[in-house]
Amino acid sequence: MKLVTSARALQEFLDADRAVGKTVGFVPTMGALHAGHLSLVDLAQKNSDVSVVSIFVNPLQFSPGEDFDKYPRSLEADSELLTEHKVDYLFAPSAKDVYPNGTDITQRAGVVGSTFEGASRPGHFDGMLTVVNRLMEIVEPNVVVFGEKDAQQVFMVRKLIGARFKDCQFLEGPTLRESSGLAMSSRNRNLDAEQTKIAEGISQQLLKLKSELETGSTVSEAISAHTEALRSLAQTKLDYLAVIDPQIFRPVDDNYQGAAKIIVAAKVGEVRLIDTMNVTIGKQ
Ligand code: PAF
Repeated sequence: MKLVTSARALQEFLDADRAVGKTVGFVPTMGALHAGHLSLVDLAQKNSDVSVVSIFVNPLQFSPGEDFDKYPRSLEADSELLTEHKVDYLFAPSAKDVYPNGTDITQRAGVVGSTFEGASRPGHFDGMLTVVNRLMEIVEPNVVVFGEKDAQQVFMVRKLIGARFKDCQFLEGPTLRESSGLAMSSRNRNLDAEQTKIAEGISQQLLKLKSELETGSTVSEAISAHTEALRSLAQTKLDYLAVIDPQIFRPVDDNYQGAAKIIVAAKVGEVRLIDTMNVTIGKQ
């Protein structure tokens, strides 16, 4: 694996690969890699000849007072994992390389970008889309892979790729979970043992909610019961729990039937966690 820190060097390597007919698969990350990321890498590798993983903790997607400084960073361990995983290029650029012309926002997330995550983290999705757009311009992949746990991010990135990078295939990788049900996340590293148990409790609530919805419970009643249960967890500040229509990313009503997503965000101690579960409502 080649560790590449400049955009120009990466482009030169990739141009040489493309010149001999190779396709490029790309997984953008902020590092602190875990098995969930590696499963996205597997997907990229299965669907392309050459794989690129970027590690860049993007300052633009953190609001003032958020965990930019505390976000886990482990480049050396990440690099070892990616080498073992036979990734071709680890792209770990500096902020100057990603934003040579300054850190102006170039992409706006629109209405959906100010709901759920965006309501609690103003500007987060504008910053996220701006970096994804920039990384896509640098890497020019044939295939790009994102994890479905960040459902709202996936919703918006899919649109960006469809509008601006039409030749790139967008793939979504499933969420990997610990045996406890806890969704794998880089931020889990910042939970202590007690907080980990609490976070596991949140995943278990989601599983129960999914099963209730799939066996005929009314959405509004189930959401209100589980909201109450989540609010009663120690050290937990629930931000939102909702069932959304994945086509429009808006809450469904009690008459909704079909594929939906349960989404949740909560702070456990100081650590903000999100999770998503797919659910089918109504007759199957
Ligand atoms: O999901 C993430 O890790 C980040 O939001 C991303 C897509 C790498 C952009 O910084």
